[in-house]
This record gives sequence, structure tokens and C-alpha cells, in this order.
Amino acid sequence: MRLSLHVWRQPSATALGMFVRYDATDVSPDMSFLEMLDVLNDRLAAKGDTPIAFDHDCREGICGSCGFMINGVAHGPSRGTATCQLHMRLFEDGDELWVEPWRSRAFPVIRDLVVDRSAFDRIVAAGGYISVATGGAPDANTIPVARDRSEQSMDAAACIGCGACVAACPNGSASLFTAAKVSHLGLLPQGQPERRRRVLGMVAQMDLELFGGCSLFGECQAACPKEISIDTIARMHRDFLAASARA
Ligand code: SF4
Ligand code: FES
Repeated sequence: MRLSLHVWRQPSATALGMFVRYDATDVSPDMSFLEMLDVLNDRLAAKGDTPIAFDHDCREGICGSCGFMINGVAHGPSRGTATCQLHMRLFEDGDELWVEPWRSRAFPVIRDLVVDRSAFDRIVAAGGYISVATGGAPDANTIPVARDRSEQSMDAAACIGCGACVAACPNGSASLFTAAKVSHLGLLPQGQPERRRRVLGMVAQMDLELFGGCSLFGECQAACPKEISIDTIARMHRDFLAASARA
């Protein structure tokens, strides 16, 4: 396969960026999108050009490091799939692809396709943990948890923190990410002592980071590689209102 790539190149956070066109030749349909970029980067490096910077780590859809827009779609055209798991067989020979970083005021570009997602870390630091003593695994196993609650909690815990929900949202909202973190702890018995403080702290931090508000477009759940449901946002709003009323 041969593809035309228009890749966002931006040398630093403060420099101006622009799309640069590259021909990706000899692309195997079995390559992942990131492997295709690796091959292109080898070619650029061999010519003395600066390789395209992009984030990645596990390359198996579990760490949340990777992610950029492909033809305007966060993580590209395959639903429920992180960029690292996207295969070139999804594209046609001769396709023209526009590759650019997440666009959000709260995720400034560091270089090329790499953005600063530390705002997510600060939201988690504002309450996305359990600090009370919960004992070891045997203690946890002695606490009964209703089947539906444990399923809902595990579904929310699947969030990998990639940021696609923010990039896809017309408001640049981090509600799906924050709601997933609030839900996965708030649904379990071990998460109850800090439940009110958690939701108030995390929502306040989300607002401080200048993410937009949620107006239920639903683009976030469509872009999410873990298919986190916007039901989690409704749950976070309910928790937030209940916690505010008691504050
Ligand atoms: S909710 Fe989905 S899209 Fe948003 S950060 Fe988590 S895994 Fe990524
Ligand atoms: S590199 Fe880890 S999720 Fe894509």
C-alpha cells in the first residue's frame, strides 16, 4: 500500500505548527498505524530529518499513552480501538490521511503529535484514590459486592486515560474521564468513606484545568477506545449534587 500522510509538525509548545506531507510507501496491511509511523521515521532519520514525535508505550491498548486524530477522528476509524491497535488494513491503497494531535486548550501540544495530559494527573490527585486502610486481598474477598455494582465499577475502571474523550468533545470536556474515575471507586464499598470528598475535589479540579462542561453530545463515548458509557457522567452528576447538598 501507498498512502499520503499530512502530519502536524510543531517543534515545540511555543512554535507555530503546520501540516507536512509525506509519502508512506511499502505499507503492509498487517502493520499497526504506529509501526507505519516507525518505518516513516526510520526513513526520515536516515535522511537527517527529525522523526515525527508521538506518544506510545504498551502498544496493546492498555496504557493510554498513544492517541491522535486521524482524518478528524480521535484514535481513527475503528470503534473501541486505541491508535496502537489500529491496523493499516482498515485503509485503502492511495488513501490520504490527516494526522494531528488532540486539540484541547487543556492539552497543550508539546511537540508534533504529543500533548501534555498532566491535567488528568491533577484531576486524579484531587481524589481518584482510596487512602483509607482497605487490608489485603483476603480482606477484600470477604466484603460482598453486588454483581451489577462490581460489573459497573470494572467497566469504569477500564478507562486508560488516553484523552480521546476530551479531543472528540466539542466542549473539550473531561467529564467522561473524570466520571469513569469517580465511578470505579464510588461503586465499591472500599470507596465509600471518601466518596463525597472525591467527587467534589475531582469536579472542582476538572473546572480549574479549564476543561469545558458536558452538554451530552455523546462524542466522548463514541471515541472512547474502552467504550466507557456516558451513563457514568450521569452517575457523577448525581454524586456531585448529593455531595454538594450535604457539604
Ligand atoms: S474515558 Fe475513554 S476516551 Fe476518555 S480517557 Fe478514559 S479511555 Fe480514554
Ligand atoms: S500505546 Fe498503550 S494504549 Fe496505545
